[in-house]
Amino acid sequence: MNYNKEVIEKHFNLKIEKSLGYGENGNAFLTSKDSVIKITTDLNEFIFASQLLKNKIKNLVEIFEIATYQDKYIIHQEKVHCNDDIISDFICIKEIGMYERTDLCNICLDNEMLTSHQRSMLKDVQDAICDAKSKNTRFVDVHEFNIGISKNGIYKLFDQKKIYHNKEEIYKELELKVNRII
Ligand SMILES: Nc1ncnc2c1ncn2[C@@H]1O[C@H](COP(=O)(O)OP(=O)(O)OP(=O)(O)O)[C@@H](O)[C@H]1O
Ligand SMILES: [Mg+2]
Repeated sequence: MNYNKEVIEKHFNLKIEKSLGYGENGNAFLTSKDSVIKITTDLNEFIFASQLLKNKIKNLVEIFEIATYQDKYIIHQEKVHCNDDIISDFICIKEIGMYERTDLCNICLDNEMLTSHQRSMLKDVQDAICDAKSKNTRFVDVHEFNIGISKNGIYKLFDQKKIYHNKEEIYKELELKVNRII
């Protein structure tokens, strides 16, 4: 990905330290403010981040600021801690769901196969999905690589997108007032 790091650092008043990982559309970086800068070409992710700025969803990482830079979208967001135990706990929860033939939302929190960490994780993920539902939003990309634990011990999802039912919905939400870095 081509961009001028200094321009982004100046705009957000921070230093970009190291890459945390990258996928098809984006790159996530740790910053000197112990937060995350996501640089992406995914418009859907960006539109959703802009909505979260105004209307938070429980158990999703907090969005601090968004901006566009050339043909890229930049999302300054809360950092959560990710590790292998979190990944394997999420996989176990999914397996319990498969075993019970139900989706994440309907796994019972007192299921005896859940460890205490998995129970807390499941509760937090269910809260995120329910809160989104109550706001008429269904997001995609709920999986083991998009979850971490916040400083105060709450599991939070990141890298979420919203499902749109038609193009009009997207166009309506495109009327964003966004800071342009350049
Ligand atoms: N808010 C965050 N807190 C902690 N780590 C993060 C955060 N955002 C991203 N990361 C780390 O960076 C990796 C890649 O970021 P992210 O999940 O946003 O993009 P991706 O799935 O790799 O790419 P794409 O946006 O193309 O789907 C994550 O798997 C995670 O390890
Ligand atoms: Mg991801």
